[in-house]
Amino acid sequence: MTTTAWPMSRFPGILFGADYNPEQWTAIMGYADEAIWQEDMRLMRKAGVNTATVGVFSWAELEPADGQFRFDWLDRLLDLLHANGIRACLATATAAQPAWLSQAYPDLLPINAHGLRQRHGNRMNFCPTSPDFRRHAARLAGALAERYGSHPALLIWHISNEYGPSCYCDRCAAAFRAWLQERYGSLAALNAAWVTPFWGHTFSDWSQIEPPLQIGERSMQGLVIDYAHFMSDMNLACYQVEAAILRRITPDIPIMTNFHGLVKGLDYATWAPHLDIVAWDSYPPKGEPPAHVAFRHSIMRGLKGGQPWMLLEQTPSQVQWRSHNPLKRPGEMRLQSYQAMAHGADSIMFFQWRQSRGASEMHHGAILSHAGSDRTRVFQEVAALGAELSSLGTRTLGSRIPAEAALLFSWPSWWAVEYEPRLSNTISYMAETTRAFAALWEQNIAVDVISPDMPLDTYKLVVAPLLHMLTDSQAAAIERYVEQGGTLITTFFSGIVGRDGRAHLGGSPGPLRRTLGIWVEEVDPLLPGEHNHVLWKGSDLSGACDQWCEVVHLEGAQALATFGSDFYAGQPAITEHRFGNGRAYYIATRLEAPLLEYTLGTIAARAGITAPLTTPAGVEAIVRQSTAERFIFVLNHHAEPQTVALPAPMRDLLSGTISRGELQLAGRGVAILVGIDDK
Ligand code: GLA
Ligand code: ZN
Repeated sequence: MTTTAWPMSRFPGILFGADYNPEQWTAIMGYADEAIWQEDMRLMRKAGVNTATVGVFSWAELEPADGQFRFDWLDRLLDLLHANGIRACLATATAAQPAWLSQAYPDLLPINAHGLRQRHGNRMNFCPTSPDFRRHAARLAGALAERYGSHPALLIWHISNEYGPSCYCDRCAAAFRAWLQERYGSLAALNAAWVTPFWGHTFSDWSQIEPPLQIGERSMQGLVIDYAHFMSDMNLACYQVEAAILRRITPDIPIMTNFHGLVKGLDYATWAPHLDIVAWDSYPPKGEPPAHVAFRHSIMRGLKGGQPWMLLEQTPSQVQWRSHNPLKRPGEMRLQSYQAMAHGADSIMFFQWRQSRGASEMHHGAILSHAGSDRTRVFQEVAALGAELSSLGTRTLGSRIPAEAALLFSWPSWWAVEYEPRLSNTISYMAETTRAFAALWEQNIAVDVISPDMPLDTYKLVVAPLLHMLTDSQAAAIERYVEQGGTLITTFFSGIVGRDGRAHLGGSPGPLRRTLGIWVEEVDPLLPGEHNHVLWKGSDLSGACDQWCEVVHLEGAQALATFGSDFYAGQPAITEHRFGNGRAYYIATRLEAPLLEYTLGTIAARAGITAPLTTPAGVEAIVRQSTAERFIFVLNHHAEPQTVALPAPMRDLLSGTISRGELQLAGRGVAILVGIDDK
């Protein structure tokens, strides 16, 4: 008997469906004409849809005038979904406020970074500290909860949509000052933390502090980073205002909002505790390496300590918002769907069901195109996937990825590394964390991407690229982890600043100096196109490095590799320190990909990490484990067939085929393997 944790235990199976905005059709065709809804139901059943995301942009339809609600159409829609066995992911509809609301409260519109008030329109176009916005959003959420809280179609709440507005208005400035007072206690503490005496910027009154407008004060790292943090918190506060009401009225219904890829301005790690399940929208550009997609999936999984998550949106075919928007090739959507599932998704959903007749997204792909036909390639591929997923039932639901490695990812480090002006404009936090992840991904090593504030003890290996902003308590936890037998790998430009953005004193890498057994005396960002070399000690191995080199002194560590040229030739480039029962490694430069792979792979193997399968390059293997079963997802990211050696006979749940010795995968093919003793 397997037990699936809440909220996945509410799921009828892998959630499969799409954003469904039928009111946008009836609004232009007349409310009487809901024939199209019937056709949608017929086709949703045909496609195996079990969940529809409804109401995301419906505020103006639900509340056409202040306080005048109109729920009749949503009543009919939810009843119809229920009658057709489809559950609702019901949005609170607050992602785009109606025109009357902006008109009634002009200061609800945000002031942009150039100091100009935005005009009404678009979406996510509100000031997140506006009490009028929050009050109206909360009232709508409450009205929806009262009306539909016990509707049998209601599966999960979807608050707003892809948060992220920022604002620089006077009200935000005032709220920022209050936020700072709570954080720093006194103006003296703030002046010290932000190093305001530099250039004589000392504040003598709280009222002098202003948001970091493009036309204003951006010379203080502490101010810029704190404002990013504050805006993330204010967006979260908007979410929480709605969440509090939903929780009071419908305590048993899970709540989430959908993340929009990786938004630099929202610290998802601080949001995750307030979501019952993480949900995100994945729109990889054509040709993006699958490791990069896997990285983002692994961030979403790490946010709630490995809990399965929802793929709430992906396009079945193409988007319309890049400069070029090619189609997904046959099989690509299926492959990407299973890749999400392999990394922990318990829902495979799309944007959107029926293509809009006009407006901003009229050319965005949808399951049903303007042709309205189910004979299209896209519909057929979606329906085939729906049938496959429904054949899996609840078997894989709630299963976890038994990752033995973690990668530390932190929004504050991201903000701090990329604060302008900086030592090197080529160093990118996303690029470096992605590269480290990809190096392990290439070797089928599953990695949970987690915040440096999460527990580390269950992992055999912790990789922390560019761990630039490091608090004393994070450093203490890392030191304890290594002392107790863990393996740490960190890289150049780590342990540089503390929580407030001020440099750690007493030698870099600050509070990790003892753990790593090194001291970094100087850092040397190279010019674009410049290289150095790294020579592995005691072997012929060598490779190029670029962008960043450091002058490292050993203080207990030993050099595994040294630099090949320049005035620090022969000095350490990669170091190893035995510390307590564990080991701590430092990579003092940006290694070329094959050498990074070799280095991380060798250290992972030494830490006792094994891959579920050895596969050809571009074929991914990753395990999901339920209480009863072990599923090996094997994903062929090539358009051509591939062969994978199997250590034991296994059965593919998707095709039913038993493979012995080797597994044949079609181009873009997928298998979910179980041992043949399993049912
Ligand atoms: C986002 C939004 C959707 C839609 C899609 C288009 O993810 O949440 O409403 O705009 O993008 O790709
Ligand atoms: Zn504002």
